[in-house]
Parts: sequence; C-alpha cells; structure tokens
Amino acid sequence: MPLFLWKKSYEIGIAENDTQHRNLVGIINELSDAMITKKGYIVVPHILEKLEDYIQSHFTTEEEIMRDTKYPALDEHCQEHLAMTTKVIGFKRACAKNHEINVVEVLNFLRDWLKEHIVMSDKKLKANIQTMDA
Ligand SMILES: [Fe+2]
Repeated sequence: MPLFLWKKSYEIGIAENDTQHRNLVGIINELSDAMITKKGYIVVPHILEKLEDYIQSHFTTEEEIMRDTKYPALDEHCQEHLAMTTKVIGFKRACAKNHEINVVEVLNFLRDWLKEHIVMSDKKLKANIQTMDA
C-alpha cells in the first residue's frame, strides 16, 4: 500500500505542475515501498538523485507560474523551495559520506513536505489562480 495517495483536490489546475507533483508522490512511495522490504538504504542514493532532478525542473515550473499569475506570496513560497533544496543537498552529502544517512529521516521529511507544502502552500497558489480566472 502506498504511503501517500494522490487526490484530485491537490491539483492546482495546471497540467505540467500537477504531473510533477504526482511524480514526487511516486518517488516518495518508491522509497516507502523499499523501506517496507528493508531496501531503503539500497535505493536512497537513487531516490535522492531523482529528487534533485525533480526539484530543479519542478521549482522552476512552479516559480514561473507564480510570477505569471503575480502570486503575492511568491517570496515566501520560494523560501520553502530553497529550504527543500538545501535539505535534499544535505541528504545527498550525508549519503555520499559512506551512506551516513538516516532513511527514516528522509522519508519523514518528504512526507511532511507533501502534507505541509503541496497540500497547503501549493493549494494557496491554486486559490490565487482561480481568483485570476474568475
Ligand atoms: Fe511549491
């Protein structure tokens, strides 16, 4: 059973962005599934590579949307993206040091990111887009 199930209500209504969010859920579920079968430490370097690629493409897309829609909380939202980027780089460095990484900490961080950022912060972006469309 996946750790996190995507719901249509999480979509912000911009296909590229929503596809990227679903991809992140897939990456997190992949790590969770690996941990259930005690393979978390084996897959975590690969997961972190995927996350770094994801961050680069997704944050660029989302920040462009925010600029295009004149999102008032752009700076605050970008700070959250920066914090995520810093955390992932930190995990990658820890992993490179002879796998000195706590896989449970990685998974908990990613789960919280989904709950607090995608479900809450990105939802505010959706409300702003809907206001513009009205
Ligand atoms: Fe975001």
